[in-house]
Amino acid sequence: MKKRATISAMGSYLPVGKITNADLEKNVETDDEWIRTRTGITERRRIAVDENCSDIGAKACLELLNNASLDATEIDLLICTSLSHDQLCPSTASLIQKQVGLKNAAAFDLTSACAGFSFSLTTAASFIESGHYKNVVVVGSEAISRLINWSDRNTCILFGDGAGAVLVQPADEPYGILGSYLATDGKKSDAIEIKAGGSAIPASHETVDNGLHFLQMKGQEVFKFAVRVIPKAINSVLEKSDLKIEDVDLIIPHQANKRIIEAAARQLDMPIEKFFTNLELLGNTSTASVPLALEQSVKEKKLKKGDIVVTVGFGGGLSWGANVLRWSIEG
Ligand code: UT7
Repeated sequence: MKKRATISAMGSYLPVGKITNADLEKNVETDDEWIRTRTGITERRRIAVDENCSDIGAKACLELLNNASLDATEIDLLICTSLSHDQLCPSTASLIQKQVGLKNAAAFDLTSACAGFSFSLTTAASFIESGHYKNVVVVGSEAISRLINWSDRNTCILFGDGAGAVLVQPADEPYGILGSYLATDGKKSDAIEIKAGGSAIPASHETVDNGLHFLQMKGQEVFKFAVRVIPKAINSVLEKSDLKIEDVDLIIPHQANKRIIEAAARQLDMPIEKFFTNLELLGNTSTASVPLALEQSVKEKKLKKGDIVVTVGFGGGLSWGANVLRWSIEG
């Protein structure tokens, strides 16, 4: 019989540096009231000058190993997902593997912008379900503040740095990942972009002068897309898993904007209390947002062993996806 996969341990790391709305007021024409009411965000973390995406990802993995009482050599596979990789080559996963000492693990990056955690969790689960691996780590790590244009008020108010890691292992019945759903609409691939620095537009003085190495986003287009696909992803993954919306105890959405989450809750006719948020103090940490929110929801006892929880991600690609789990970690 096919063995189900589950999330059996977590770890995280948040840089100590903070950027408040008051800090942003000094850089761009914005104000605390506008940011709070239009996004729900009051502050976000910023990585230290001597840290990189791989460093904070490694710290989240080390905490995870400690929480799981596993030795680094027992990990079979590391999947790193990020929007702000250290370099184009090698993979950030290789850099984390080296730092953490995961010497028996294959390691690769899986990139799907802010939906990266949904895609990576589903991929990790497939490796477990196929019997290929027993101990898979998925880490979402972001040093996204390095790719933000601090004079673009459309993006600089939203994003924050941080890393969250989960251990994916074979599940004991009746727990684990009950279903997954992934989707992409490549026709909208220009909605969120970092145009330069790859092979299509290699880095040059001109690309830097024109700010093409920064993250660019069509905010309203992405907003409308997100409100449309969150309910779609949740309904699709529940249908695939023979579950109903009434069965769901908690939803962990990608932490992009509080108004997106509120609009999705209204469309699903679900109380907003069923949607966990931590964007107030962390902003949008892209691939790290779902694992960070999962861990915090357990610490706050909002997610308990046996609960049905849906994680849902969306972002550049445009891509979106969801996983539904019968939660297996004791709070
Ligand atoms: O993780 C990847 C997924 N990303 C997202 O989900 C982000 C989705 N998009 C958003 O969250 C929102 O679109 C933003 C927060 C980026 C922008 O909020 P909005 O409510 O869509 O604002 P808007 O672009 O429609 O602009 C409304 C007004 C405009 O002024 P006028 O033309 O009405 O006078 C903007 O110029 O607000 C102005 N504005 C601002 N004012 C103060 C836009 N940004 C700011 C700002 N501070 N930071």
